[in-house]
Amino acid sequence: MAGHGNRLSWAVGKKRVLCTGSTTIDYVSTVKNFPEEGIHEKAIAGYYLRGGNASNNCTVLRNFGVNVEFFGMLSSQLIFQILIEDMKARGIILDNCPTCDEAPPFASVILTKSLKARTLVSCNRGFPYVSIEDFRKLELGQYGWIHMRALHFDTTMAMLKDIAAYNASRQEGEDKIMVSLEFDLRLDEMFPMLDYCDYAFFSKQLASDNGWTSLENACSQLNERLHMRWGLNLKRPLVIVLWGDQGAGIMDLDGNYTHAPAYKPRKIVDLLGAGDTFVGAFIYAKYIRERSERVCVDFGNRMASYKITRNGYDHITNILYPPGW
Ligand code: FRU
Repeated sequence: MAGHGNRLSWAVGKKRVLCTGSTTIDYVSTVKNFPEEGIHEKAIAGYYLRGGNASNNCTVLRNFGVNVEFFGMLSSQLIFQILIEDMKARGIILDNCPTCDEAPPFASVILTKSLKARTLVSCNRGFPYVSIEDFRKLELGQYGWIHMRALHFDTTMAMLKDIAAYNASRQEGEDKIMVSLEFDLRLDEMFPMLDYCDYAFFSKQLASDNGWTSLENACSQLNERLHMRWGLNLKRPLVIVLWGDQGAGIMDLDGNYTHAPAYKPRKIVDLLGAGDTFVGAFIYAKYIRERSERVCVDFGNRMASYKITRNGYDHITNILYPPGW
């Protein structure tokens, strides 16, 4: 990293980043070919790790040296303590998370070598989500950026409105909180949240339900929907659509589309969490390094591609190219 500065030093003086969502255990097995039904397949490799979108965003941001807090429901069950210990050991702040006694969510992940694909089966048997009362215990003045998953409509909407009210109460020249949202489920229901964020990430997972045929088509459909909203002075976010090996599409505030192509990974080892890596890297480049949006998306693509070359998230800063390099 010589010549690129100390990654920790870039984050000094910046307020905390808060990632709201969930944390799970991911059981990951690598197999040669995808198992046939009813057989006992032996994995060629495997590991388990802490997963969940917000939890992965925190890992990535922390690896970039960012002062980051996870805000989500914790479980008192023994197995969950591994996740808590891992976050603590990494310096991910957990101080404001509520705890319940329910069994935590988990995911079974199969990485198929021959197909270069990942299959994910997630299991969440009604694990509770954080409440607006939990959120109201946070001291919003500590945060410079809040990222949330667009889910649990009533609670997340109430949180977004609280942040908007906080921002509105700031005087000219005082810091406001930047807000980003990740949409990957039930877009119609979650759409009104777009009025309250600065950056909106959309997953390719939404394509079939919404009739998106390509990156550009997804961006233009989202643009049309943003135009059709009713109301005065509605906030419009920068739209970023993630589309696997095609990279990302950007729809700016004036409705201009740009394609940011993906970087071809040197090898495909582990696709799990590539999107979460993109989001964490984008927030780092934008909030900590203050780069242009185009450069931040390119950096996100580069980091997502590098993540795929190994398991987990701890290697990504080995190639800490400065955004815009
Ligand atoms: C990967 C991931 C996994 C988790 C699942 C939750 O993007 O965050 O870690 O099991 O998605 O949707």
